[in-house]
Amino acid sequence: MRDADATTTRLADYQPPAYLIDEIALVFTLDPDATLVAARSHVRRVGDTTVPLVLDGKRLDLQSIAIDGEPLDTTQYRIEPDGLIIEAPPAEFHLDVVTRINPAANTTLEGLYMSGGRFCTQCEAEGFRAITFSLDRPDVLSRYAVRIEADPAIPTLLANGNLIESGIADNGKRFAVWVDPHPKPCYLFALCAGAYDSIADEFVTRSGRRVALAIHVDPGEAQRARYAMDSLKRAMKWDEEVFGREYDLDVFNIVAVRDFNFGAMENKGLNVFNSSLILADAETATDGDFEAIEAVVGHEYFHNWTGNRITCRDWFQLCLKEGLTVFREQEFSADQRSRPVQRIKDVKRLRGRQFAEDAGPLAHPVRPSSYQKIDNFYTATVYEKGGEVIRMLEALIGEQAFADGMQLYFDRRDGTASTVEDFIACFAEVSGRDLSQFMRWYDQAGTPALQARGAYDAGARTFELRLKQTTPPTPGQPHKQAVPIPLRVGLMTGDGVALRTRRGSEREAREEHALVLDSPEAAFTFHDVQEAPIPSVLRGFSAPVVLDDGLSVADRLGQMAHDPDPFTRWEAGQAIARASLLGRNANAPNAGLIAALGRELDRAQQDPALAALALRLPDLNELILADPHPDPDRLYAARESLRRAIAEALRGRLLPLARAKSETPFSPGAEAAGRRALKSAALDLLAALGDAEADTLWSAFENAASMTESIAALDALGASGAPAFEAALERFYTRWRDNPLVIDKWFASQAAAPRADAIARVERLRAHGDFEMRNPNRVRALAAAFAMRNPRAFHAADGAGYRFLAGLARDVDALNPALAARLLTPFETWRRFDSHRQGHAKAELEALAASQLSKNAREMVERTLA
Ligand code: TRP
Ligand code: ZN
Repeated sequence: MRDADATTTRLADYQPPAYLIDEIALVFTLDPDATLVAARSHVRRVGDTTVPLVLDGKRLDLQSIAIDGEPLDTTQYRIEPDGLIIEAPPAEFHLDVVTRINPAANTTLEGLYMSGGRFCTQCEAEGFRAITFSLDRPDVLSRYAVRIEADPAIPTLLANGNLIESGIADNGKRFAVWVDPHPKPCYLFALCAGAYDSIADEFVTRSGRRVALAIHVDPGEAQRARYAMDSLKRAMKWDEEVFGREYDLDVFNIVAVRDFNFGAMENKGLNVFNSSLILADAETATDGDFEAIEAVVGHEYFHNWTGNRITCRDWFQLCLKEGLTVFREQEFSADQRSRPVQRIKDVKRLRGRQFAEDAGPLAHPVRPSSYQKIDNFYTATVYEKGGEVIRMLEALIGEQAFADGMQLYFDRRDGTASTVEDFIACFAEVSGRDLSQFMRWYDQAGTPALQARGAYDAGARTFELRLKQTTPPTPGQPHKQAVPIPLRVGLMTGDGVALRTRRGSEREAREEHALVLDSPEAAFTFHDVQEAPIPSVLRGFSAPVVLDDGLSVADRLGQMAHDPDPFTRWEAGQAIARASLLGRNANAPNAGLIAALGRELDRAQQDPALAALALRLPDLNELILADPHPDPDRLYAARESLRRAIAEALRGRLLPLARAKSETPFSPGAEAAGRRALKSAALDLLAALGDAEADTLWSAFENAASMTESIAALDALGASGAPAFEAALERFYTRWRDNPLVIDKWFASQAAAPRADAIARVERLRAHGDFEMRNPNRVRALAAAFAMRNPRAFHAADGAGYRFLAGLARDVDALNPALAARLLTPFETWRRFDSHRQGHAKAELEALAASQLSKNAREMVERTLA
């Protein structure tokens, strides 16, 4: 039996490193199936003399090892399954290690591997140990010098830092020498080599440093990297203006690879991207793709300060770089596009992914306290909730103190491997506040439920708002304490006049109040309230909580029409729909909602992107999460019937939107994208009319001049049940069969189509000649699109959806454990369903547990079953 404890790493057990490596010189002799890596490290003991030097290593073939030039014999070191141990090394020495690795055979996409015939690396979190024996932990920072030698036919050789020298060596090989002056942990190491097409540009920093920018992509794709380059320059400028951060090397390279486990990676001076987050043009990319490219290019660039210059002491501090960088990325996107639209999209994403995680067996704090495989903790909680925690910090201490705290953090922690405490200490210091209670947001899992109830006293003209918070138990955390919840509260009259009120003993009246609920319950009193108000208590979604505000449908309709906060207006419509679909609006027909959506359409031209969001009902996953006894078929039917009612009532206004001619020339900017989003929302609603509007959907598909419109029409045909879906799929395939990123969309659109034959369809796609088990984008286009976007089929009563996902994950696991583990996350909701479905899910999970699994997948299966 496996000993679970032997493989568990705990935050409480953290020990500083006993040895450090100040300098490391690497020489790579590249060969697809036999690459030699010679590493010379300057090692220094800082701990106890009795502690051996333990180097991490996996899948390595040791060729030689020497200390200060003296080869070691086999009595002087020991090779173990996960590393190499030198019992009693000198206090300070040069360690020479030569390892041989096989990039071509590496299907894990971690360490050094091949993608499309080109070499690339992925070292976060623990991939460097698959390249050479190393102190593979983020608190060991070293200066790197890297020499790459390769076949002269390989034109481009890249690594971190600045290029010092390159050419053809005496041995006839092409070589390049890269030196990175900034000490870094090995997870930020990167090497890429191959034949690329590249685009180049330049950025001059505000202090006058000229930075050579380049993006390297698959041959023939260079023009599609233009938008990414533009995004990069805007991100560099924005970080100077908003956070005062400048870039610190002479070059900044981005390489796009087709086979990549995540979105992108922030390696110092050499970001590596999934090609889906670099390549875009009007014909092949949707507006969502353009938006994601801008966001992720920004995200990885922003890591240069939040992650690289200041890194993490250990992997438990992952949110220190990821939550903060998500926050910076969201702010960047909000400034580049529309702040309210960005906020609503971020909230949708948080609720869709993170709230589900927090409510199930995989729930964990933003800063977990133990893990088996750290790869499994690159989660929505660490990223998205981690970003929300920073946003709340800003709300609690105020914009100025937050900005000051950030500057103190950059000054004080630059060049270090830090903890969340180090970060928070900067804000406590500048604000003079005690932030110890705030730390609960990092250490406590689960989504707080917030209840708000108001009482108006007409005689005293006061309004009392009573607030109560509770956080449900999560695995390993049965009892929760109160967290400080920042709230932006406004009061409005029934006909939409914002009330200026005073709170407590305040003298000044205002339209919006900043409150903090930091105890299990509290009451807040507002004065000078002329009439019974409609309170909106979570403006801007100021905290990641589930709010029960007890408002009536009439109150919410008032908010939809008049609340000054766009988030509240959007949320009011969602809340009416949610209650209706969950069967909780017993005596309130949907007419009010439908009329309100009609008014959204009337004013849609003011902000089409916002109107588009209002027209989308809460998705099925959200309803499943909100329903204590979810029946996916019933919820799906309820949602479709409301969509049909809306589409019938608003048909006359939806049709012209759906028939709108494509705008030329194409602009990827937020305004044009907003108009296309409105058209897509119209197509989506018309799909609810089934065959009746199939012609409209078909001609939208036929006449689409952008990928956004093409996919919106294709998805709508899929959802409509119309037979024309098949013909559209065939056309789409014929046109795009040579573009893998577009074919990913073809797979995803089918896997997500909520049709009766969904299971048969995904099984057919799995057997399709274009299905590639080794390519994460293609696997996700099938598996994640099915399990996350097609919940009715995934949760099919006969268990066929569960069987499909488990089977696919098992096969992927043999090649790529990190990917397989991630594919299994949709099982996290399994206990919410009826006993029949639970039985099917459990049987699949138990069969997985009983089979040969990677450590990654096993951890996920066991936690999901626990
Ligand atoms: N640090 C990356 C980011 O958020 C995430 C990442 C990329 C990653 N590749 C990975 C995490 C591989 C774990 C393993 O920007
Ligand atoms: Zn990141």
